[in-house]
Amino acid sequence: MSRRVLVTGGAGFIGSHVAEGFLAAGDAVDVLDNLSSGKRENVPAAAGFHHLDITSPDAAALIRGGGYDVVCHLAAQIDVRKSVADPAYDASVNIGGSLNLLEAVRASGRATRFVFSSTGGAIYGDFVQVPTVENMPKDPESPYGIAKLSVEYYMGYFARVHGLDTVALRYANVYGPRQDPHGEAGVVAIFCKRVLAGETLTVFGDGQQTRDYVYAGDVARANFLAATTTLPKMRQLDVRAYNIGTGVETSVLDLARTIYGAAGREGTVNHAPARAGEQMRSSVNTSKAAAELGWKPQVSLAEGLAKTYAYFASRH
Ligand SMILES: NC(=O)c1ccc[n+]([C@@H]2O[C@H](COP(=O)([O-])OP(=O)(O)OC[C@H]3O[C@@H](n4cnc5c(N)ncnc54)[C@H](O)[C@@H]3O)[C@@H](O)[C@H]2O)c1
Repeated sequence: MSRRVLVTGGAGFIGSHVAEGFLAAGDAVDVLDNLSSGKRENVPAAAGFHHLDITSPDAAALIRGGGYDVVCHLAAQIDVRKSVADPAYDASVNIGGSLNLLEAVRASGRATRFVFSSTGGAIYGDFVQVPTVENMPKDPESPYGIAKLSVEYYMGYFARVHGLDTVALRYANVYGPRQDPHGEAGVVAIFCKRVLAGETLTVFGDGQQTRDYVYAGDVARANFLAATTTLPKMRQLDVRAYNIGTGVETSVLDLARTIYGAAGREGTVNHAPARAGEQMRSSVNTSKAAAELGWKPQVSLAEGLAKTYAYFASRH
C-alpha cells in the first residue's frame, strides 16, 4: 500500500535522504521546507514541494488537509551555537514550529504517525555513561538540546491526551553527502573541504574527544522503519524514543586519519587550544532500535566517509 508522507526539512541534508527512502518504497512524498538552509535542488524530483515555514498557519493547514499517513519532522534550527546566541529564536522554530505541526495533526483527526528528529548528541549531557541508553537521565546543555527534549515531552502529552501516534529518533552525529558544516557532525564536512583544498586539518585539544558518526542513508532507513513498524503505545517519555547511531566512539584524530585515507593520502594535523565546555565523549546504545524497529547501521565509517568525500570532491 502506498502511503502519503510529508517530510519537513526535506530540502535539507538528512530530510532529502529520508524523502528518497520513502520514494524508493513506492510512497507518495511531499516536502515542506522554507529553504532557510536547505536547497530546492536537494528535493527529489518525484516529491511534491511546499515552500512554507513550519511556524506558519499555512503549514498547519497543509497538514490538516493533506491526508498524510506519516509526517517525518526534520525541519529545525540546527545550529547549537546559534541556539546559545539566541535561545528565544531557537525555541520559536524548534519548539513553536513543532507544536504548530503537532496541533495540526491533532486537528486533522487522522491516525498520522509523527516521527520527530531529536538528538542523542545534545540531550544526555556529560554525566551519564557512554554509550547512552534511552532511559538514562537527561541533562541538555544547550537551548537546542532543551528544545529537542521539550518537543519529546510535548509528543508524550499529545500521545497520552489526544492519542497521537508519535516516535522520536535521537540521532548521534549524522554525516553523508549534502551535509551542512553547521550540523552536529559538521566536522566531517569541514575536514573534507580542507583536505580537498590541500590544507592541514586543525583539531581542538588533544583530538581524543569522541563522537558517534552515523551515515545519513542509515538514518533515512531508521525514519522509514519508525514510520512503518507497529510499536507499543506511548505511556512515558523514552517509551517511543530510539537512539540512532552506531555505538562506536571515534576520536577526532581517527576521523582525520580516515578522511585523509579516503583522499588517498597521508596528512598531519595542527592542534589548537581545547574549546571550553566541549563534551569529551559521546556515543549511543542502539539495542532498542535493533529490537523494536529492526534497525541496525549498515554503512561502516570508512565506507560512509569515502562516499561523503567523493561527494565533496565532485563539487570541488
Ligand atoms: N546533522 C546531525 O548530525 C543531526 C543530529 C541530531 C539531530 N539532527 C536533526 O535532524 C534534522 C535535520 O538536520 P540536518 O542536519 O539535515 O539539517 P539541515 O539544515 O540540512 O536541514 C534542516 C532543513 O529544515 C529547513 N528549515 C529550517 N527552519 C525551517 C522552518 N522554520 N520552516 C521550514 N523549514 C525549515 C531548512 O531549510 C533545511 O532544509 C534536524 O531536526 C536536526 O536537529 C541532526
